[in-house]
Amino acid sequence: MKNNHPYIIEINSIGSSDLGYISVAEIDGNIPFEINRVYWTYYTPNNVQRGFHAHKELFQVIVAVSGVINFKLITQFGKETHYTLDDPSKGLFIPKMHWREISFSHNAVLLCLASEKYDESDYIRDFDSFLNNGGK
Ligand code: TYD
Repeated sequence: MKNNHPYIIEINSIGSSDLGYISVAEIDGNIPFEINRVYWTYYTPNNVQRGFHAHKELFQVIVAVSGVINFKLITQFGKETHYTLDDPSKGLFIPKMHWREISFSHNAVLLCLASEKYDESDYIRDFDSFLNNGGK
């Protein structure tokens, strides 16, 4: 599994413009981990940013099933990358130990496939300690 770097997953679209489309996420198909939790966020005002945390162990694949979602990701070494999710056939793989800051169009629905159940102790919510020692 390519697990150290974020990357875009092109998810197959089954269907046609006449009939509409189906996209499928499958473990060991296009999702490189066992999915233990699925959540979605919605109605985030477009002047609000969310995230501002990293995870110690969690892997995620994020899909903008509606709208446009922009991600700023930062590694522990301060390397910054930007991704735009603007199509429901695109997923963003986010490895562990990546700080994320997320902004949304008004109609955005963010679907998250996560490798672990919710655990607040897996979060690093202080940016300086994330950069300095990985939250340890
Ligand atoms: P958080 O992951 O910080 O969301 P975001 O980065 O989008 O702002 O979660 C926001 C709140 O929701 C926080 O109090 C924890 C809670 N929460 C759960 O209880 N279970 C979950 O699965 C998730 C993702 C969040």
